[in-house]
Amino acid sequence: MSVRLESTSNIWITGASSGIGEAVARALVEQGHNLIVTGRRQEALDNLKALAPDRITPARADTTGKEELQGIAGSLEAHGDLNMAILNAGTCEYLDIADYDSDVISNNITTNVVGTARCLDIALPALRRTVAKGQPATLVIVSSSAWWFPFGRAEGYGASKAALTYFAHSLRADLAQEGIDVVVVSPGFVKTPLTDRNDFPMPFLVSAEDAAGRIVKGLRKGSNEIAFPKRFTWMLKALGALPQGLIDRIAASMSRQSRKEQETNG
Ligand SMILES: NC(=O)c1ccc[n+]([C@@H]2O[C@H](COP(=O)([O-])OP(=O)(O)OC[C@H]3O[C@@H](n4cnc5c(N)ncnc54)[C@H](OP(=O)(O)O)[C@@H]3O)[C@@H](O)[C@H]2O)c1
Repeated sequence: MSVRLESTSNIWITGASSGIGEAVARALVEQGHNLIVTGRRQEALDNLKALAPDRITPARADTTGKEELQGIAGSLEAHGDLNMAILNAGTCEYLDIADYDSDVISNNITTNVVGTARCLDIALPALRRTVAKGQPATLVIVSSSAWWFPFGRAEGYGASKAALTYFAHSLRADLAQEGIDVVVVSPGFVKTPLTDRNDFPMPFLVSAEDAAGRIVKGLRKGSNEIAFPKRFTWMLKALGALPQGLIDRIAASMSRQSRKEQETNG
């Protein structure tokens, strides 16, 4: 039986200024939890604070900056014992193979992998202090199901989320002995400012509120793996279990089709 989120918790959430992070923050504050919210846009964080001024602390920072993060470490401490850190800040940049640019790979990796890893510089000591007082502590890492299949144009994004998931699973192994749970969230397509930029069909797209509901429900249940929507993630798992030669043929055909559509539309 899980004790996560059973009583009022102090939760740090990154990428809270829009999309999934904002929706999760709204859901958690509605349930009475206390939040520290991080993003780069102060105004969006202030808007969140207005929902519950005495229970939400904005802590603006670029999560890729070690020093900026150290600058908000005090906010985590001042807020009380940290019960949960939800590391959700992320980006998605697609590659145009005809105009290959390694910056696309670097940008995805820097924000999604290095940024998340840097957040642990301040989250881990705070979670350890909580465990030392006999309270539960949970680290939640928002990855993606996108890397379960080699989609064209997703070289940078998929590689970053594959690396991030490995990072999380490896952390889970190391932190188990300390009693810190590590949860991996693997969403399918969610309607947010990030996916509003996409120019291709997004099967089984869910709203940010729907995604937040599934994440919070999974956390309350004590799940360590939260993947949704099921029809999409099962389809990806089934595709990913095919022999590599078949995966390659399907992936190449999808890539050709999407390039044709792009050429027709653009
Ligand atoms: N939407 C989907 O379909 C989908 C699917 C699978 C996984 N995900 C993952 O879910 C997470 C949230 O994505 P979303 O769709 O909600 O996108 P979003 O609406 O664009 O939100 C991204 C959030 O991350 C923050 N962020 C980005 N770079 C940052 C940085 N360097 N420092 C601090 N904050 C930063 C943004 O805040 P500022 O702009 O204020 O900095 C924003 O709050 C990402 O990790 C994404 O990969 C999304």
